[in-house]
Amino acid sequence: MALSDRLELVSVSGIRKLFDLAQGIEGVISLGIGEPDFDTPEHIKEYAKEALDKGLTHYGPNAGIRELREAIAEKLKKDNGIEVDPKSQIMITVGGNPGFLMGFATFLKDDEEVLIPSPAFVSYAPSVILAGGKPVEVPTHEENEFRLSVDDLEKHVTEKTCALIINSPNNPTGAVLTKKDLEEIADFAIEHDLIVFSDEVYEYYVYDGVKSHSIASLNGMFDRVITINSFSKTFAMTGWRLGFVAAPEWVIERMTRFQMYDSTCPATFTQYAAAKALKDERSWKAVEEMRKEYDRRRSLVWKRLNEMGLPTIKPKGAFYIFPRVKDTGLTSKEFSELMIREAKVVMVPGSAFGKAGEGYIRISYATAYEKLEEAMDRIEKILKNKKLV
Ligand SMILES: Cc1ncc(COP(=O)(O)O)c(C=O)c1O
Repeated sequence: MALSDRLELVSVSGIRKLFDLAQGIEGVISLGIGEPDFDTPEHIKEYAKEALDKGLTHYGPNAGIRELREAIAEKLKKDNGIEVDPKSQIMITVGGNPGFLMGFATFLKDDEEVLIPSPAFVSYAPSVILAGGKPVEVPTHEENEFRLSVDDLEKHVTEKTCALIINSPNNPTGAVLTKKDLEEIADFAIEHDLIVFSDEVYEYYVYDGVKSHSIASLNGMFDRVITINSFSKTFAMTGWRLGFVAAPEWVIERMTRFQMYDSTCPATFTQYAAAKALKDERSWKAVEEMRKEYDRRRSLVWKRLNEMGLPTIKPKGAFYIFPRVKDTGLTSKEFSELMIREAKVVMVPGSAFGKAGEGYIRISYATAYEKLEEAMDRIEKILKNKKLV
């Protein structure tokens, strides 16, 4: 099938449609958007200005500048237990997102299947489709705190399955896989000879003493794992469009060829700033401050949702919470449309993230505390007025 035909198969993200609906309604509080409300820390912006002043305004290498690849290799060793050669096993990308399509393009054959936990980040299935493959949803369940289980994976694996995506901490559920979960998934991947995409963009945003683990660090796994990460959430740099991939050399070599003919390379001065940021204590202090504030908001929203009659698991990571709304008798789409119209609060229906998301709603708490309080008041009022709980 031609790429233009495949493009017909991927629709505009359900999240975008919702934002269109909210446009023009005055006084709306958006709990829809999946990005930090914090600005990029000042010293990182200063590094970018410094880079511009130094004349770093030219093309860079297709796989990214050496300084940044080396700084990432150090971080991966220290924080993730992953040892990589910065010359051949790291590539800098234009945000984490392109890593999926470029990654699948390195090995996926027509109609091969990729296991995707459901609900999931909206880019996974379209990336698989654009690369010529077939996404297969593997449901995760509220009873298991939405953590992907090998039992569910086993039910969906076929001889056509060639890869699997994991995302911990998770968007949209906030679930964090334990080390044991990852060890079981690693055994499953080895048994079925699968490549694993590990999306770790929320790795630093974990709570209640929980730790985020990297599957590529587990024994014998590096050779089959494509680790996707990004500066977007870590340092509140979504608009900078800067991410990275750590993977075996053959994957990086092929992805670099893809990037060569696509974006060429990420902007050079932003890479310089990110390399400096990784080594600057102030960046990690800022991460800790953001983490603490997200944690405070998480507790507020979790408490309020449960009190108002929407049963909600306390998520362990990311900045999303995923209350159950099916007991109101409404679909997740009806629920979110009602709340936009009547409460002027934007939340994304769980169905936008896959079949297993139906019956839930995604709330992003990357929004000021006071706004979250106000949003909770408004939602509660409509639930009570309409006798939905
Ligand atoms: C789970 C997950 N992975 C990857 C991304 C991509 O982020 P970016 O392309 O900004 O790095 C996002 C963005 O929302 C996400 O939620």
